[in-house]
Amino acid sequence: METKIFQSDQLDQAAELLRQGELVAFPTETVYGLGANALLPTAVKQVFAVKGRPSDNPLIVHVADFTMTKEFVESYHPLTEKIIKNFWPGPLTLIFKIKKDSLSPIVTGGLSTAAFRMPDNKKTLSLIEKTQAPLVGPSANTSGKPSPTTALHVYHDLNGKIAGILDDGATSIGVESTVLDLSGDTPTILRPGAVTQEKLAAILGIEVPLDKHLVSESETPKAPGMKYKHYSPDTDVLMVQPNDWDEAMAWAQENNQKVGLLVSPTIADKYLSADRFVFADDTIEAATRGLFSGLRALDEADKVDLIFAQVFPEDHLGLAYMNRLKKAAGQKYFAK
Ligand code: TXA
Ligand code: MG
Repeated sequence: METKIFQSDQLDQAAELLRQGELVAFPTETVYGLGANALLPTAVKQVFAVKGRPSDNPLIVHVADFTMTKEFVESYHPLTEKIIKNFWPGPLTLIFKIKKDSLSPIVTGGLSTAAFRMPDNKKTLSLIEKTQAPLVGPSANTSGKPSPTTALHVYHDLNGKIAGILDDGATSIGVESTVLDLSGDTPTILRPGAVTQEKLAAILGIEVPLDKHLVSESETPKAPGMKYKHYSPDTDVLMVQPNDWDEAMAWAQENNQKVGLLVSPTIADKYLSADRFVFADDTIEAATRGLFSGLRALDEADKVDLIFAQVFPEDHLGLAYMNRLKKAAGQKYFAK
């Protein structure tokens, strides 16, 4: 199968393929999604096959507006309206209790809840409308690889395996959406993202806890996807604490290790000799935008033995960045 790259004037063609049960990857503000018509179980099955994704890991249902969720949702949390008003469209996935048999168990993993998100990308919202059905959309990478933030990343992983990719350049956020569980009494964050704990708390006027697994590593995650090894490049990644860079670089030189650096400009300026992927500026936003792209680029760079990656404080967006980086690094820090 030849994978077609669609530009924004070819939305009708892309939608027609989705209506027929083909897979088309779509852009969002977070990462690219692997789209299939959520109402066609055979198409959804293909998503798992193409990604090599475990079938007990449920998918997000992408909608063009809040109204589209009503067909499926059994009951909404009292804070839903406030949350939607403030954060949709945007990088926030919401878990609701669903009506029995309203969605295929292939989409939900057989759970009595499902995940919904309205992405902040005009082309994709229009694609959903033209398909006249919600789209499932896991990140459009091979399972276990860093999520794709450009159409080229998707092409690299899935060329020949899917019908098309709707190209809209690089994504602006760079990590997957926040997953907020609204199926119980207390809204709980299952996966950190760009809608941060602090932003949610400020709008809702209550504390919004993190799921136990995000606080203690021994707890089983409630979002099934969080338990799998994720975001791993083939090259080993070590996280480097702010005060350890000199020593880490000296160690690498002594041990003849060719390291690739994944760092902000200020750190890159100090270590001119190494292979590196430099974030656009020193902010956590730029680091988050560049994280997956950088891991992919360094993984493909010639003869890099090891990647040294910059750590950030684990609050605000830094919580999402560190959550993904820790997985890529298998929790490992450079230790003196
Ligand atoms: O930003 C994103 O969310 C991207 C873009 C493409 O929209 N999509 C994405 O999908 O990251 P995926 O499949 O890679 O991640 C979905 C996450 C998984 O951790 C999954 O376990 C969780 O959402 N999830 C889905 N349904 C759930 C449910 N009913 N209860 C708890 N967690 C659920
Ligand atoms: Mg994913």
